[in-house]
Amino acid sequence: MQIGIGIIGVGTVGSGTVDILLEKKAYYQELYGLDFNITMVCARTDEELAPFRALGLTGSTQVQDIMTNPAISIVVELAGGYELPKSWIEQALTAGKHVVTANKALIAKYGAQLFPLAAKNKRHFLFEAAVGGGIPIIRSLQEALTGNSVNSIKCIINGTCNYILTEMSQKGSAFASVLAEAQSLGYAEADPTFDVDGIDSAHKLAILATLGSKQYVDFNKIHIEGIRRINETDIAFAREMGFVIKLLGVFSKVEGKTDARVHPALLPGDHLLASVNGVLNAVYLETDHLGPTLQTGAGAGKYPTASAVVADIVAIGRQGVKGGMSPIPMDFFSEGNPADLLPIEETSSAFYLRFTTRDETGVLASITKILSQQGISVESMIQKGHQKKDRVVIVMVTQVCKEGLMRQALEQINTLNFMVQPAAMIRFI
Ligand code: HSE
Repeated sequence: MQIGIGIIGVGTVGSGTVDILLEKKAYYQELYGLDFNITMVCARTDEELAPFRALGLTGSTQVQDIMTNPAISIVVELAGGYELPKSWIEQALTAGKHVVTANKALIAKYGAQLFPLAAKNKRHFLFEAAVGGGIPIIRSLQEALTGNSVNSIKCIINGTCNYILTEMSQKGSAFASVLAEAQSLGYAEADPTFDVDGIDSAHKLAILATLGSKQYVDFNKIHIEGIRRINETDIAFAREMGFVIKLLGVFSKVEGKTDARVHPALLPGDHLLASVNGVLNAVYLETDHLGPTLQTGAGAGKYPTASAVVADIVAIGRQGVKGGMSPIPMDFFSEGNPADLLPIEETSSAFYLRFTTRDETGVLASITKILSQQGISVESMIQKGHQKKDRVVIVMVTQVCKEGLMRQALEQINTLNFMVQPAAMIRFI
């Protein structure tokens, strides 16, 4: 059976997808009786298309050529962005084509509009590559784990941030210098905002939390903090206490509400996620029947991501061979089925606090007094000797308390005269 594919966007992931489809063409024919035919590839310029035309593929700079081609039954959107891909996907689904994308920002922002459209048109709309690159976490949540309820998710879903924090931890380097190095090596984008400010992680967490809870978790309601404010001192203190600092996406259900947030967190050194280093991604799930489980691997990159795109294409092809069209139900991914998000002030954590103060009598007493007025109990404290008179670093670890109380306490502490800079706060997970 011939299956025509149109690919929009032939950058890194698009060209990897072409390579894998060509490399495994005979294998898929033999294994599934499916002949995947790349009917057309689409890019902005003829220059970008040249290497694909040299392979004998048909190239076009007009997306409409894919939409109107009756031989194409699967449209693969790998161009990135929001508005244009949204309109292409709407067109493709309306024209009766199946769609595969790797676009996490698009799913987080417009999934609630696009999944109902796919269902209405009885077409597949698959996005395995959108979270965790090649890690098959989407299909795990959609299919393999349906015998379970997902109680919580903790995940490292941005390779750039994980690389930066790992380098800072292993080399004792500062954030800015590691970021600059990562950019020169091509690991971090020239504009690293989406990655280092936690936005990319929040797009992916919104998707995972929606799949995990079967309620729509709106990306705009997720509390997001990035890693710019983490410094070498925090990482060194964390290590001394037996912890590592990771940028985590966190999801759980708390008394019927959804706790979904992205922020740097202190993880015990023996947690399964603690040893996930460098650009690796990992998703740690706790479910009712399976218990804890970890999936880890390459969260980005040409072939890892393309392998997930191809898996979606093959999944659609296999459904087609059987003659049936039963897309995975995604009805819950809809604005009419919203998760009730727990405000960050109502979440509870133990906290790491770093105070940079002048060395004066009464500093500790003043800080602990304010904490105790909010009912916050200090569990341990570190203050090293031989620090400068005008700049002393004090680290405190608190017991679990409501974040709202902690915020009120820090607001007051930050007004104290001896504070050299605002207190730093990192949550334990
Ligand atoms: N920029 C992402 C990362 C990969 O650094 O993990 C694509 O989502």
